[in-house]
Amino acid sequence: MIRMPDAVEIAPGTHWIGALDPGLREFDIILKTANGTTYNSYCVRGDNGVAIIDTVKASHAEEFFKRLEQVARYDEITTIVLNHLEPDHSGALPELMRRAPQAKLYISTKGQLMLKALVKDSTLQYNVVETGDSVELGGRTLRFFNTPFLHWPDTQCTLVEQQGILFSGDVFGCHFCDARLFNDRVGDFRFSFEYYYQHIMRPFREYVLNALTLLEPLAPKLIAPAHGPILREAPLSYMQRYRQLAAPLLHNEIGSDNKSLLVFYISSYGNTARMAQAVAEGAESIPAVRVSLYDLQAGGNLPFVDLIEEADGIAFGSPTINGDAVKPVWDLLSSLAVIKVSDKLGAAFGSYGWSGEAINMIEDRLRGLKLRVPVKGVRARLIPTDEELEQCRDLGKQLAQHLTGNIERRVISMSQLLAQEPSHA
Ligand code: FEO
Repeated sequence: MIRMPDAVEIAPGTHWIGALDPGLREFDIILKTANGTTYNSYCVRGDNGVAIIDTVKASHAEEFFKRLEQVARYDEITTIVLNHLEPDHSGALPELMRRAPQAKLYISTKGQLMLKALVKDSTLQYNVVETGDSVELGGRTLRFFNTPFLHWPDTQCTLVEQQGILFSGDVFGCHFCDARLFNDRVGDFRFSFEYYYQHIMRPFREYVLNALTLLEPLAPKLIAPAHGPILREAPLSYMQRYRQLAAPLLHNEIGSDNKSLLVFYISSYGNTARMAQAVAEGAESIPAVRVSLYDLQAGGNLPFVDLIEEADGIAFGSPTINGDAVKPVWDLLSSLAVIKVSDKLGAAFGSYGWSGEAINMIEDRLRGLKLRVPVKGVRARLIPTDEELEQCRDLGKQLAQHLTGNIERRVISMSQLLAQEPSHA
């Protein structure tokens, strides 16, 4: 059984005053939490004031206030910093501000909208801070660093300069509840640290890299995240691991001048497979495009998601069965929420029996994920004709040209235009 600790001093005059939630098994609906989580909050005491860094989920407010009262009086609190406004960190904020009305609240610029949406109080006073701004507590300086999208647009980190403590918010955290609190004392939480990165931070890896550039030079002696263990043993190794996880790899292998196109397909009778082969052939005819072909029937989603994250373009081939694309295609498309795909190009093609809706449906889904779909998909009724296979080659070629930016201008004659006019007969 987990013993609930009192407030815990993490550095002279600085305490953890958060809450433990060992029974939680799912966070934000989508995240598994095998042994719960913590909502970390901190109290920093200076000569002239006391700061509270983040609060906790509303359901755990009582636990938080109990620990806070062990280390500070409400009338001593001069400063409240919210590094992140998500309700697991802002839940106890309204009550804290009611108990410490003299305290000044500091949030990031992007936090304003969220604060107003979460705390329905138009009279609420707050201060907006940017990277480099600071608050003095007397012998303790809180310095702010804007780190957007880790994991909401509002997120920031706060450094206690004199102690080298980085209150990092969600970043470098994980859902792992252990009352021993410190990374050198808790159980093995590596799986949780990696899982948290993969599901929370990975879609924003460019922002992760920007934040690392900002935070690494600070060389914090201790990283105090908003969830999970406090990183006092080798804190910089966690930053290094983030840099490894966020670094693009494939481009390094194929060279930054080359583009990568992945062609996925699934095929009942080999017809969509033949179309996929033709799409790949067409794309390969364009120099500086590396084309890879995968049968979805034989692959798992996870390695394909990893590949897609590194790719510049993706094409999906699916038959139409009962008016829909087939499940392995949807499964992969629905797995892409953990990566950034909005900078990629997409395309669709496939064989069908009598309706052929899959192509439009896949294209719509790709556009919904904010991919650009620059070339109209190709449909073939049952066995593709030579002409339809040529259309597939052309699809691959055009897609590859869009990837490289060398788009061949197509000259359409008046007779072709007239031939495409719908018949009103
Ligand atoms: Fe822990 Fe994004 O909230």
